[in-house]
Amino acid sequence: MKSLIPSLLILLILVFALFKTGGQHIRKKQKTVNSTYLEHVRKHKTPHIREELRKLHTVAYAKNYIVNVIKYGSHQFDFKGGEMEGGFASPNDAPKIACYVLSLSGKQCKTPYSKDAAMFYTSICGGCHGNDGKGLGGAYPNLTRDPLLGIERREEFLKNLLHKGVH
Ligand code: HEC
Repeated sequence: MKSLIPSLLILLILVFALFKTGGQHIRKKQKTVNSTYLEHVRKHKTPHIREELRKLHTVAYAKNYIVNVIKYGSHQFDFKGGEMEGGFASPNDAPKIACYVLSLSGKQCKTPYSKDAAMFYTSICGGCHGNDGKGLGGAYPNLTRDPLLGIERREEFLKNLLHKGVH
């Protein structure tokens, strides 16, 4: 029995040490979240909603939206719909396809798309949205619409929030 006491003592110390470091770990984590959040609030004095509304009709915003639809599906911004699944094209090809889509309504991305973008669009997307992007007989959304439907809905949603005094 006597020989057991030292090993029990060591075990006790080990459990205590483990408990202590575990606790510190959690406290550290909370501290990082808080300071990042505070920094974020300090940096963004302009309310996010107004900032997003200002960018809403830029080519960059539309490009980002199309890239997200290609990657994750048409169920963006939590709107109803979502009938187009994500993943028709690889995430790597998404930006150039998005720029090609924008070019169909005369818009231009900052970085020009590579020549194969047209081929990707026609073979992957053209079957539903038409090679000219105008949708096939109205059954699929017109990708040359300005603004795109999702962006129009986003604008309504954000303006509605401002109207309700959320900012
Ligand atoms: C199988 C048919 C199909 C294919 C293939 C397809 N889409 Fe779609 N797409 C749809 C449908 C249907 C919707 C509308 C979904 C909804 O209302 O939620 C849509 C919606 C979209 C939207 C949103 C339009 C808007 O006005 O907001 C974009 C952008 C889009 N597609 C781009 C693409 C691109 C780029 C490709 C090729 C990588 C592609 N789609 C391939 C059927 C398709």
